[in-house]
Amino acid sequence: MRPLKKVVITGGAGQVAYSLLFLIARGDLFGPDQPIALHLHDLPEMQKCLEGVAMELEDCAFPLLKEIKIGSDVQELFGGVHFAFLIGSKPRGPGMERKDLLLENGKIFIEQGQALNRFASPDVRVLVVGNPCNANCLIALKNAPDLNPRQFFALTRLDQNRAVYQLAAYAKADVAEVENVTIWGNHSTTQVPDFLNAKIHGRAACQVVKDRQWLENDFFTKVQKRGAEVITCRGKSSAASAAKAALDAMQSVVKPTEAGHWFSMGVYSRGNPYGIDEDLVFSFPCRSRGLGDIEIVPNLGLDPFLKEKLAISQKELMEERTLIAHLLKG
Ligand code: LMR
Repeated sequence: MRPLKKVVITGGAGQVAYSLLFLIARGDLFGPDQPIALHLHDLPEMQKCLEGVAMELEDCAFPLLKEIKIGSDVQELFGGVHFAFLIGSKPRGPGMERKDLLLENGKIFIEQGQALNRFASPDVRVLVVGNPCNANCLIALKNAPDLNPRQFFALTRLDQNRAVYQLAAYAKADVAEVENVTIWGNHSTTQVPDFLNAKIHGRAACQVVKDRQWLENDFFTKVQKRGAEVITCRGKSSAASAAKAALDAMQSVVKPTEAGHWFSMGVYSRGNPYGIDEDLVFSFPCRSRGLGDIEIVPNLGLDPFLKEKLAISQKELMEERTLIAHLLKG
């Protein structure tokens, strides 16, 4: 019997968690031989709801799920965890930008960064989902000085998946034939979906989709604004697609990436090969060597259009960092 892998999910009573934890419990993240402990964290007033979620997990009789803990005490819930999905945060409503949540949600990530530093397994891998996720990830890693910043990730996989779908639909291809789609920058409306290095059935996406106008305009804005479109239609932010993306992202962290492939992830920018400012959580093309060891894929070509867009996203992240500095001081 392999040792338990302990996973904490914050916002355990929320919608994203409700879609995510059943996927993890049935083995979708670590495979069919890996026993799992699930720790569900949420605010004290959500404990009744967490009890119900735990009951449903029990009622699924998942063979791999060996332990369920619920609560609001970070020491108890973060203790010894190997993986953390930091989802719990206030979601944005109609008409808001994700960064409007920074001051309110930032405080949560100060506490959780500190808790990871003190109580988690030293090899913990942390995926920040709560928005604004790049900024929150930066806050969390700055509050965990004993952990390597490279153990922290921000979710841009949802944007990648959205871009894959849009390219596939336009090119009348299967989603499985769309590969190496990179989202650069911030998980916000300044994000940069890279159509230059993406491939559709093995060929450069911009050679398959010959319509550069569509790529620079409709494709770009569709991906950048998809989260807001979902909020307008559903009245609340995306949940199942965010959970699927979080699972995809953590799977990419734990499994070695196939040669010649990559995925998008917000990672700490120190030492990056693209000249992006050194102290940001910025989404890059990434590869995993397995077991959570992530590197940024170098040498992707960018044209002036994409470079200009990257600079805009970088500027936004630098502004968010200034706000974070105030938050951390105060
Ligand atoms: C999304 O992209 O759907 C989520 O980050 C939620 C949001 O606020 O857009």
